[in-house]
Amino acid sequence: MPDTHTLTIVKPDAFASAKAGKIIAHLEAQGFKVCAARVMHLTQAQAEEFYGVHRERPFFRSLVSFMTSGPCMPLVLEKADAVASLRKAIGATDPKEAEKGTVRALFAESKERNAIHASDSDENAARESRFFFSESELLAAH
Ligand code: CMP
Repeated sequence: MPDTHTLTIVKPDAFASAKAGKIIAHLEAQGFKVCAARVMHLTQAQAEEFYGVHRERPFFRSLVSFMTSGPCMPLVLEKADAVASLRKAIGATDPKEAEKGTVRALFAESKERNAIHASDSDENAARESRFFFSESELLAAH
């Protein structure tokens, strides 16, 4: 299985509880390599655009408010079959349903404040990576 790339975001709840470093260390220990990373505070417009697919969902306003409540950290990660590997490593959206040992089982607070985002397809990984990073910042992910 060749190495591919995916996009993750360590979310504001992880920064509020000072667990961002532990989450990244946990992923590195599972074989993910960091190719790009930045700490930023999303604007409302950025959060609304990034989560635009959820615009009609009842939790959309609350999700945007949460994602703009503090710093977050988008990262591009590399591993064999990166998208599927990362989805497995982070666990179900709701930490109560997440498999033991996954990032959300270990570090998430709730279905909304769930510590981490991961792209759900190669196409979305590429689109979401370009959302946060410039071409030169993505050079290590080629
Ligand atoms: P994420 O993987 O980033 O994709 C969409 C996000 O919306 C999700 O993680 C959660 O943070 C949030 N979310 C999804 N479903 C719900 C829900 N039922 N209630 C509140 N927040 C949700």
